[in-house]
Parts: sequence; C-alpha cells; structure tokens
Amino acid sequence: MDLKTSIAAALAQKIEGMDADQVRCLLETPPDAQMGDCALPCFKLAKTLRKAPPVIAQELADGLSVDGIAEIKVAGGYLNFYFDAAALAQSVLAGVAAANGQYGRSDIGQNKNVCIDYSSVNIAKPFHIGHLSSTAIGHSLYRIYKYLGYNPIGINHLGDWGTQFGKLIAAYKKWGDDEKINRDSVSAMLELYVRFHEEAERDPALNDEGRAWFKKIEDGDEEALSIFHWFSDLTLKEAKRVYGMLDIEFDYYTGESFYNDKMQPIVDELRQKGLLEEDQGAEIVRLDDMPPAIILKSDGATLYCTRDLAAAQYRHDTFDFAKCLYVVAYQQSLHFKQLFAVLEKMGRSWAKDCEHVAFGMVSLEDGTLSTRKGKVVLLLDVLNAAIEKTSKTIREKNPALSEEEQQKIAHQVGVGAVIYSTLSASRIKDISFSLDRVLNFDGETGPYVQYTHVRACSVLRRYEQTDVTPDFTALSGREAFETVKTIAAFGEALETACEKNEPSVITRWVTQLAQQFNKFYYECKILDDDQAATAARVMLTRAVRDCIKTGLYLLGIEAPEKM
Ligand code: ARG
Repeated sequence: MDLKTSIAAALAQKIEGMDADQVRCLLETPPDAQMGDCALPCFKLAKTLRKAPPVIAQELADGLSVDGIAEIKVAGGYLNFYFDAAALAQSVLAGVAAANGQYGRSDIGQNKNVCIDYSSVNIAKPFHIGHLSSTAIGHSLYRIYKYLGYNPIGINHLGDWGTQFGKLIAAYKKWGDDEKINRDSVSAMLELYVRFHEEAERDPALNDEGRAWFKKIEDGDEEALSIFHWFSDLTLKEAKRVYGMLDIEFDYYTGESFYNDKMQPIVDELRQKGLLEEDQGAEIVRLDDMPPAIILKSDGATLYCTRDLAAAQYRHDTFDFAKCLYVVAYQQSLHFKQLFAVLEKMGRSWAKDCEHVAFGMVSLEDGTLSTRKGKVVLLLDVLNAAIEKTSKTIREKNPALSEEEQQKIAHQVGVGAVIYSTLSASRIKDISFSLDRVLNFDGETGPYVQYTHVRACSVLRRYEQTDVTPDFTALSGREAFETVKTIAAFGEALETACEKNEPSVITRWVTQLAQQFNKFYYECKILDDDQAATAARVMLTRAVRDCIKTGLYLLGIEAPEKM
C-alpha cells in the first residue's frame, strides 16, 4: 500500500460518509515540499461537514497517526502530511523491485480496444520531418495504452487516393524512366509531379489527361492500377525503413483507398436522414458554428471527409473501440471537428469517443519546412545525420567500445535524441528543431537521460551482491528523498499521459527522475564500506535504472547500458 492510500484510509475512518477512495481523490501534492508531501485541502469538505476548513483540519489532525508518516501539521485550511523518508523509500523501492522491470504496469484498460491513427503518410510524397510528430506521438501513445492494459490498434491511414495520382500517372506515361523511379523512388515521383504542374501551366489539356488516368484508377483499369501499386509499394518501402529505425510496426496499413467500397452506405444514410443538401452542385452537410462538411463534389467524387466517415464507421464496426484517436497536425482541426459533428448528426453515440490528438508544427532552426519551396527535409536524412554525429561523440567519449557496440549505441542515442525532442514539449506547441541542441549530452535531452541510465548500470555492475538487510535511513537525505518521491509519482504521470494523450508528461517525469538521481549521485557515494547503507543506495539505483528504462521505452526510446 502506498503512503497516499494509507493516509486516505486513516482519514476515511474520521470522515463520515466517505470511503478511502473518495478521500484519496481529494489529496493533493503541495507545490513546495515545505508544505508537506501530501495535503488534504479541507475546504473541499466544508460544504458537506458544514464547518470552517481550519476547524475541519484541526479535528482531523487530533489523535491521527499513519504508518510511514513522520509528521502531520495543520496549516490554515490544509492538513499537511510529511512522509518519513526511510519508510517511503522502503515501500516504494520494494514495489519497484517486485515489479521486475514492469513498475507501473496495470490492467485498468481491461483489454479495451483503442484505435490509434498515426503517421499516416502519403503515397508518392516524401516522409519529411513534419511527419515526425505524428509518428513519435502515436507510437508512444501505443506503448502507453498497452502498458495500461488496453489493446491499442495502430493504423496507418495512408494518403493513397485522389486526383493527384491521375496526374502522376499521366506524367509517368509521358516522361517516366523506370530505372530512375526504382532507384530514386519518391524523389523521382516528386520530380514527375513538379514537371507535370509546370507543363500544365503552358498546356492545360494535360489536366484532362490526369483526370482521365484518375478515372481509370477508379474504374479498376489494370494498367493504371499496376502503375499506382508500383508507386505505393516503393513509397511504403521507403517509409518502412524509417519505421524500422524507430522500431515501429503498424497493425494495419489501411489507407484512404481501402474505403472506396465503404462510403456508399454512409452517403445513402445521410441522404435518407435528410442531412445532405445541395450546394452549387456539391452535396454538403450543414453544421452549427462551423463551415459545412463537403461529402460529394459536383462530379460525384468523394472527399477526404467522406473517406474518414467511412473509416470511423469501419473502425467502430470492426473494433468496437473505447477510443479512436487521430494523431494529426492541428492544421486539420476543422476537418476533425466536422467529421465528429457529422457522426453526431448521424446519431452515432460513439462519436464522443473519437478524439483529434493535435500537435504543432516542426520547423528547422533555419526556417519552416516546406515542400513548396523544394526544401524538403527527409526524416531518414535527419535520423542518419543524428546517428553519424553521435557516432563521433561516442568514439571520443568511450574509445574502449568495439566498433559494433559503437554503431549500435550511436543508433540508439541518435534516434532517441530526435524522438525525445519531439516528445519533450506539450504536443500542441510548435517546435523548432536543431540537431546540435537535441544531441547535447547536457540539459533536457534524450542523451542526457540515456546517459543517466548508463551511469546507474555502471554503478550496479561494480556492486557485489550481499545478503545484508538494507538500511533505509541511508536514504533520508534530501536528494534520495526527492528521487524516491519522483519514482512514486510514476503511476500518476502514466495516468495523466494516457488521459490527456500527452507523452510529454512521461518525458518530463523521466527527465526529472534523471536530474534527481544525478544530484544524489554527486552528493552521496553509493558504494562504500557501510554494507547496509550501500544495499539501500543500490536498491535506489536499481529502481532508477528500471524506471528510466521503462520511461524511455514508453516514449519509444532505447536505453543503452553503455555509451
Ligand atoms: N495523410 C494525411 C496527411 O498527411 C493524414 C491522415 C490522418 N488520418 C485521417 N484519418 N484523416 O495529412
């Protein structure tokens, strides 16, 4: 039982009409340790108990004692609890040790399905650094949900439909070079696009050819489809190289085209329910407080929104999800608002379980990334650059490592640094990215946290196990106490991260843990002649190692043991 639970249980006996769980929900962690490690704000009880908060606090304090609590103080309307550092350390560290590397894992998710639509790259378009956030956030959420006992379903909703593919095929038929396309893949396709647009400005008839080819794709023409599938395969092959580097696998690659035959029932239902309206030839659904959702273009063609309606319905029918998350840039906020509003209008009670997990833009320190300016920064190139730079640093720092070890660690650290930087701020914030900054071994960076894990591992390698009983009073000092309290806060961080779909909560937690452990490391000699004290400090070190590893894992980052 953790100390908060013990406090809640003791208080519940003194508060009529409330059980321990209800009391636990009222407990807070004061912003400053001087005000205690846990507090009950008594004004929350004032109404039910019909007494002034300071009176309630005093009455509850009288004669109260809780195991593991060193001191209980009344401060105005607050009842403040001060943990006994040694007792806290003993209970928390025993908990981590018993969890065997799985501290904080739970089954509160009850195996419920959670669809996570993420990464969702576009066929024949580069996998640029702008896709990094969706990919990293989605992957981290996947791991967080899984850790909490949900059954996450990772879906890559590929952008594999639209008139642009007709243009691409038209361009290929005119100027395409098979060898070049097989060799350069997406960048060759991009070139074809650009050329198509340039030439179409001079000769608008080209656009008709593009439309004709798209019609052929729609009609299932063999040649059109085989060219299109070839482009898709090449694009996916390239994307999967990135996924491989990030250790990501998707449960489904069901792109927009997957819904070609699944939209008619939705359109029929909208019409039947009188929700479709004609507007300048197009068919739309009017919505309150926002522009209408366009369902069919004037030529009868479906749109992004139509496909997402079918996709949502399909996901509901197939997975009966508890939540359906869309990890997509905030630029698409309106699209998702419209999508969810149309689902509501159709009477889908589960529309409330759909959520747009929005995030801000990634820009490079020297300006915004943009496809238009032709300045596309490929994620693969960023990752490779990060690995290469790290490789140099590792070689300097630790020349004793074998070439193979160096390469493996450079990969873990380089890739980890890029992911960490993406997940370090609240996701809605725009981030500007600088390779030098994210690769720094000091400051709030991935390498810093990984290095702290390495440090803990190296202490543990030097320790010779004894049977002596740990003396937890050796962990009464401020640095150890703060480290233990951070470990104890993991459960809450996990819950918040899941509730808000916000991996940065885990990033902050694991960074704080690393910072606190480093203070402890500099302040106290971990291995010394006092065997019982050493055993306690080693137990803390082991717990920190396990927790950092778990925290990084949940972010999608590896924890090397040497670097
Ligand atoms: N392919 C889209 C893009 O790159 C993202 C798709 C997001 N998922 C969805 N169900 N709409 O903008």
